[in-house]
Amino acid sequence: MVFTPIEDVLDGRQKGESVDIRGWVYRKRESKDNIFLVIRDATGVIQCTVKKGSSAWDGAKKVTIESSVALSGTAKSDRRAPGGFEISTKQLKIIGLAEIFPITKDQSKEFLRDVRHLWLRSRKMGAIMKVRSEVLKSTHEFFRKRRFVEVSPPMFISSACEGGATLFELKYFDRDLYLTQSAQLHLEALIYSSEKVYCVAPSFRAEKSRTIRHLTEYWHVEAEQAFATIEDMMCLEEDLVSYVCHCVSKQCQKELEILKVNAEELAKIEAPFERITYQKAVERLHKKGFKLRWGEDFGFNEERALADEFGGPVFVYAYPKQIKAFYCKTYRDNPKLAMSVDLIVPRIGELTTGGARVDDKEELIEKLEEFGLKRDDYEWYIDLRRYGTVPHAGFGLGVERLLAWILHLENVMDTIPFPRTLRRFYP
Ligand code: 4AD
Ligand code: MG
Repeated sequence: MVFTPIEDVLDGRQKGESVDIRGWVYRKRESKDNIFLVIRDATGVIQCTVKKGSSAWDGAKKVTIESSVALSGTAKSDRRAPGGFEISTKQLKIIGLAEIFPITKDQSKEFLRDVRHLWLRSRKMGAIMKVRSEVLKSTHEFFRKRRFVEVSPPMFISSACEGGATLFELKYFDRDLYLTQSAQLHLEALIYSSEKVYCVAPSFRAEKSRTIRHLTEYWHVEAEQAFATIEDMMCLEEDLVSYVCHCVSKQCQKELEILKVNAEELAKIEAPFERITYQKAVERLHKKGFKLRWGEDFGFNEERALADEFGGPVFVYAYPKQIKAFYCKTYRDNPKLAMSVDLIVPRIGELTTGGARVDDKEELIEKLEEFGLKRDDYEWYIDLRRYGTVPHAGFGLGVERLLAWILHLENVMDTIPFPRTLRRFYP
């Protein structure tokens, strides 16, 4: 038996013909002589009318919201039906009769997160998942077009990349290991054969704070490139972000409509993005009344204020080295500043961090000491500077932050099927 996707019926391709569809009961409404079932499948929703006296009537009477069904009937155009088409039902088979569905209208966000396994069926979450898929697909496309090699870094690691505070420890047989915070250090090893590498993989952060942009497990797009500079990274990042935005605006029109996101606005996101130094950013923030001192890191509010001022993505670069990681290269003419760059976007703040890496062996050893890191843990990483070192740069971008920004969502939690936070690990 061939089943027609609901999207094809709504296209009008099957007008006047007999169709078989299958899916779940999304809505049900009864009048004296008709039952109206709205059926949902992966491609859309369509209204199906069942007339009193038809052989589908008893099934339609019995069927409940979220029951799975197979249904056959005639596709008709009808101006009153949502989507302009409906199915006049001849037969209805209940595949799985649902118990009373716990999700009804107007429930709290907290409750919807508790029943995430069921809330994923909503049109909103379904649309977000499709956009997420397009974001991942276009990211892979982007890197492959530029001849980056996709690599698979480890998730169990023995040396921290982003500092101890957010490191998840775990028992690994009889010793302690960590879950990776970033694939960067391992990607650096891979550039010595492939030169341009990238990965899309989970990263883990023991984030104790509850914010709209932090998860304990998130998907991380990371790239690393031999012979590249911090400027090269800014160009690569802005090209990636605008490519992904354009793909979503073209390929996800239906989903953007469901999510009430303006596809044209998305299509307008275009490289090059603005670039300002940390110094200039601090001056601008002072003018806005922020009190931070030179050398302090930006918080959420500072980042958002900057992005709002520019009305779009902005790169902030040349940070004081003490607020950046041990692997950051510093400027020759100003060793207080790290060749590190954050891409900041409205509503979300930091979307990426990238920059140039220390490529000199002695300098790296000094940095490790300065940051209080055990040299033994990083001996393999020092090796990369020992054997044919090259200047190189890379960056990392959080998939959930990108999605939350593109889709105007309030919280990164709503961009991933099963969010993990300090308090949330079920379902
Ligand atoms: O700024 P971060 O910590 O930088 C790194 O990990 C570098 N090693 C990346 C690299 O150069 N390869 O993380 C990079 C990005 C952030 O800008 C943010 O978008 C995202 O990862 N991110 C998080 N997303 C969700 N929840 C969290 N707890 C996140 N922490 C970082
Ligand atoms: Mg960062």
